[in-house]
Amino acid sequence: MSHYQVGYMIGSLSSTSINRLLSKALIQLAPPELGFTEIPFRELPLYTPDFDADFPPAAVAFKRAIAQVDAVLFITPEYNRSIPGGLKNAIDWASRPYGKNSFTRKPSAVIGASPGAIGTAVAQQSLRSVLGFCNSPQMNAPEAYIHFKPGLISADGEVSDESTEAFLRDYMQALHAFIVRVLTVLPREAME
Ligand code: FNR
Repeated sequence: MSHYQVGYMIGSLSSTSINRLLSKALIQLAPPELGFTEIPFRELPLYTPDFDADFPPAAVAFKRAIAQVDAVLFITPEYNRSIPGGLKNAIDWASRPYGKNSFTRKPSAVIGASPGAIGTAVAQQSLRSVLGFCNSPQMNAPEAYIHFKPGLISADGEVSDESTEAFLRDYMQALHAFIVRVLTVLPREAME
């Protein structure tokens, strides 16, 4: 059975991030065909085109990490009805220099958790718009807006609510099927 490597970016830099908890749950509930690597972006400076001629080591490593995975999963909070600035900065780095956009044809999916009732829906729409411009084939469905309540996911990534657990398991199965579909039509070796 094919094995696919998923790089995941957690939009939050918080030490108490509920989206990091969500990432743990998603990894536990994923089908065995998927492996996971976090792609961190904390060390990236603020992007400016002045770096385009000579990317700093943190940005080179960041772009290499994206190149090495089959797909990228974004697990992000909503900040002021959009994505956190750190994540947007990271995407801007990945998209440059011109002609070397790391997201071209790289399958992606988005999910997020918030204590708010609409569970990052607006941030996800904003992120989808950015990823669309970056030419990433995106998993359209299922959408996943996680309304986080205290105790929903433990520090180890255990989900306390059965229906949420089943939903997240289905989401990860759909992600696997989506990656298979995209990479069947657009094999990675044909792009490199
Ligand atoms: C928030 N929060 C928030 N929540 C939301 O549902 N919609 C929003 O627009 C915002 N805006 C926002 C801005 C800023 C600057 C902060 C710090 C927070 C609340 C947010 O959902 C909550 O802090 C989550 O816990 C953030 O996710 P992590 O960091 O715990 O993963």
